[in-house]
Amino acid sequence: MKEIALHILDIVQNSISAGATLVHIGIMENLKDDSLTVSINDNGQGMDKETASKVSDPFFTSRTTRKVGLGIPLLKHSAEQAGGKVTLISEPGRGTTITAVFRHSHIDRPPVGDTPGVVSLIAGANPHIDFTYRHSAGEDVYVFDSREIKEVLEDISIGEPRIISYMKEMIAENLNGFFLAGKE
Ligand SMILES: Nc1ncnc2c1ncn2[C@@H]1O[C@H](COP(=O)(O)OP(=O)(O)OP(=O)(O)O)[C@@H](O)[C@H]1O
Ligand SMILES: [Mg+2]
Repeated sequence: MKEIALHILDIVQNSISAGATLVHIGIMENLKDDSLTVSINDNGQGMDKETASKVSDPFFTSRTTRKVGLGIPLLKHSAEQAGGKVTLISEPGRGTTITAVFRHSHIDRPPVGDTPGVVSLIAGANPHIDFTYRHSAGEDVYVFDSREIKEVLEDISIGEPRIISYMKEMIAENLNGFFLAGKE
């Protein structure tokens, strides 16, 4: 069973490959309707209709190093195992949004995992791309925005190891303050 944070790491790689300069990552936990929604929105090159309709098929990929693409099919499998689904909206030249819904209480829903580690690592590893991470659980909301970090850092790189660990701790601390009915 793969953690949701690792799915996010995978899907965001697609956004980076698609030339995105801004990527929004969202997790919305809604206990009232028993859902956990993950969304990744980018302003990359997007996909035409034909490509978009094929991506949930593992044998479709624009990779040249390997004949199967697994990022989206694995996410789809994971969401479906947990009573949910994946939807994809993409517009060539504008960007792509992938949304995965899981049933929150489903026994096969993967744990959220280390989103502070994943988000800080991708923000640090891609200093020229901006990332936001919005996590809500009921009334609690936290928003991370790499643009705010860069503004404070001025000429220090967001990719410096001490900055990455600082961001990781900051995100983790904020999420720790959440009231999550099913803290994992
Ligand atoms: N955000 C995106 N923007 C543009 N094209 C995308 C995006 N996400 C996926 N694609 C297209 O869909 C294909 C399939 O994506 P998927 O993540 O399933 O596999 P992959 O990236 O090709 O391989 P893997 O994820 O296993 O490294 C990609 O090769 C790419 O052509
Ligand atoms: Mg991929």
